[in-house]
Amino acid sequence: MLDPSSLEHPLRSILRLQCMFLVVYVVFSSPPEDPVKCSLQNKNCTITNSYGAFPDRTVCRAAEVVYPTTEKELIAAVAQASIDKRKVKVVTKYSHSIPKLVCPGGQDGLLISTRYLNHTIDVNPSTMTIAVESGVTLKEIIEQAAKAGLALPYTPYWWGLTIGGLLSTGAHGSTLWGKGSAVHDYVVGLRIVAPAGPKEGYAKVRNLDNSHTDMDAAKVSLGVLGVISLVTLKLQPLFKRSITFLAKNDSDLADQIINFGNQHEFADIAWYPSQHKAVYRMDDRVPSNVSGNGVNDFIGFRSTLSVALALIRSLEEGQESTSNADGKCTSAKLITSTLMSSGFGFSNNGIAFTGYPILGYQNRVQASGSCLNSLQNAEITACPWDPRVKGEFFHQTTISIALTKIKSFIEDVQKLKDLEPKAFCGVELYNGILLRYVKASSAYLGKQEDALDLDISYYRSKDPLTPRLYEDVLEEIEQLALLKYGGLPHWGKNRNIAFDGVIKKYDSARAFLKVKELYDPMGVFSSEWTDQILGIQGNVNIVKDGCALEGLCICSQDSHCAPNKGYVCRPGRVYKDARVCTRLSSLRKL
Ligand SMILES: Cc1cc2nc3c(=O)[nH]c(=O)nc-3n(C[C@H](O)[C@H](O)[C@H](O)COP(=O)(O)OP(=O)(O)OC[C@H]3O[C@@H](n4cnc5c(N)ncnc54)[C@H](O)[C@@H]3O)c2cc1C
Ligand SMILES: *[C@@H]1O[C@H](CO)[C@@H](O)[C@H](O)[C@H]1NC(C)=O
Ligand SMILES: *[C@@H]1O[C@H](CO)[C@@H](O)[C@H](O)[C@H]1NC(C)=O
Ligand SMILES: *[C@@H]1O[C@H](CO)[C@@H](O)[C@H](O)[C@H]1NC(C)=O
Ligand SMILES: *[C@@H]1O[C@H](CO)[C@@H](O)[C@H](O)[C@H]1NC(C)=O
Repeated sequence: MLDPSSLEHPLRSILRLQCMFLVVYVVFSSPPEDPVKCSLQNKNCTITNSYGAFPDRTVCRAAEVVYPTTEKELIAAVAQASIDKRKVKVVTKYSHSIPKLVCPGGQDGLLISTRYLNHTIDVNPSTMTIAVESGVTLKEIIEQAAKAGLALPYTPYWWGLTIGGLLSTGAHGSTLWGKGSAVHDYVVGLRIVAPAGPKEGYAKVRNLDNSHTDMDAAKVSLGVLGVISLVTLKLQPLFKRSITFLAKNDSDLADQIINFGNQHEFADIAWYPSQHKAVYRMDDRVPSNVSGNGVNDFIGFRSTLSVALALIRSLEEGQESTSNADGKCTSAKLITSTLMSSGFGFSNNGIAFTGYPILGYQNRVQASGSCLNSLQNAEITACPWDPRVKGEFFHQTTISIALTKIKSFIEDVQKLKDLEPKAFCGVELYNGILLRYVKASSAYLGKQEDALDLDISYYRSKDPLTPRLYEDVLEEIEQLALLKYGGLPHWGKNRNIAFDGVIKKYDSARAFLKVKELYDPMGVFSSEWTDQILGIQGNVNIVKDGCALEGLCICSQDSHCAPNKGYVCRPGRVYKDARVCTRLSSLRKL
């Protein structure tokens, strides 16, 4: 007799295949390209980010790129730029930030790459510090510290970031304990090279420690104070953690969220609203004699077969173009259950996932990014977002909401979910809404209050004028977070509108600008974008047809959406002050 469930629908087989591809461990990979491309040798260059697209999809230009290998060469580059009165920006090995932070002002700026400033200078077990050049990646810091029996306690989850870049944008992991999860709150020393006048040889090196109040400006600086050359971080003795992911009904999430952060040192929560599910990460230190050698190799950061990436993308494009919300929900459930049954890429021993808890050393569980481990192989595999292959292409909305307001925010999102139960399936394809804990910082451009940082990735069409499924719901969440709850955008992620008027949300904005005036009075390291976000000149909004679809504006008239495709500008459904692109037919039809 035939079991009817064995009769596979073709879509189900594709999904199966998709999930299989996700968990296949691939050894070969091609490393990401240099984000800078020049038509002449190191001259006449374009610069982009690791996704190959800024929020406004423009390409930035620079007249030249230089690759200093020592601090001395770096100082010389800054001095030459200040003599030539050229605009300057620092570019890193991969350039992971989404907004246009890396673009030098004007058209003929200079890029200073930190690609070769990648040396660890000193690891000191007695002071428990590490000193590194600013182009050193998080991966390298973690490895070098561990060799000396030390660890950075809280870091971003992706190890491809450089210390200079991640500090400049306030990057973080997740904790409410100690000084919190932002790496900049563990900085104890910083050397920064800024432009200067002829008396000082056109470049000045400042050596800051925490006794300088300037440190509060320099440790999160958006790159506008000069080039960070050397960073010293405070470490801890290497420790072990015990990690368990627990999936629960999300009905009491709003009530649990603060307690949970207080209970577990490395807590975070992945939230899947359409699946009524929240995955709680119960993650704490354990004594180092507890046995176990767990490893984090997060599936989303692994090398993935290019054919699989293309297949997954095509499936999603198909679901978008046919408004197949049910298809997305089916895919999302399969992806979530696959991720969960494979421990999200954690293994108990570096080989296999056999169940929780994962017990392992901090240096092997805190961060990952194996798609960067490179054999210079062809484009058979890549990081999932590598722009050279057809693969992931998404918007990322990353905003922190004060703990005092997070309960109401969650409840508002749940109200939206009740009105549109399938609206979040698209987000769940990208592993849901990641909620991470961050603490108030003394950094002028750091977090103002203890907060939850929500991180949402969702489909971005290759065509900027094509709206996406549940466009309105995601726009409403973005505006809820930013406007109703006054959330702070991550400086290195987000779409333009997240930064509209952002500087007014920072109590110490004036203090920051004073230091900027002192370090770089001519604005050599400033650009159109940094002037806009710092409230110095101009505005991040780009108003034109279809602008709301890409988050370049909040719609105020239908033409900002896609009226010819049935998307018009309407108030939000839970947050009436929101203005979102709503599909007319979704108001009645279907
Ligand atoms: C896959 C992935 C995962 C991520 N995960 C996290 C996460 O878990 N948590 C989190 O908070 N963020 C995360 N991010 C975002 C990330 O933290 C930021 O985008 C970060 O700024 C990128 O670092 P980068 O080295 O690529 O810097 P870039 O994006 O290249 O540079 C950022 C800015 O800093 C400036 N800058 C860089 N180096 C220097 C220097 N030496 N001196 C002066 N200015 C400098 C640049 O000019 C630019 O303005 C993630 C990003 C990706 C792509
Ligand atoms: C500079 O680069 C652009 C394209 O990026 C190209 O069209 C132009 O010819 C180049 N100029 C020179 C002098 O090579
Ligand atoms: C520094 O970068 C260069 C060029 O990418 C590389 O060859 C070298 O191995 C790196 N050194 C370290 C210490 O990572
Ligand atoms: C979640 O729990 C609530 C109450 O505890 C219950 O009403 C609801 O049906 C549950 N939902 C699911 C999907 O289990
Ligand atoms: C670990 O060490 C502590 C004290 O040093 C001891 O009490 C405990 O029994 C040890 N645990 C294991 C699993 O060896």
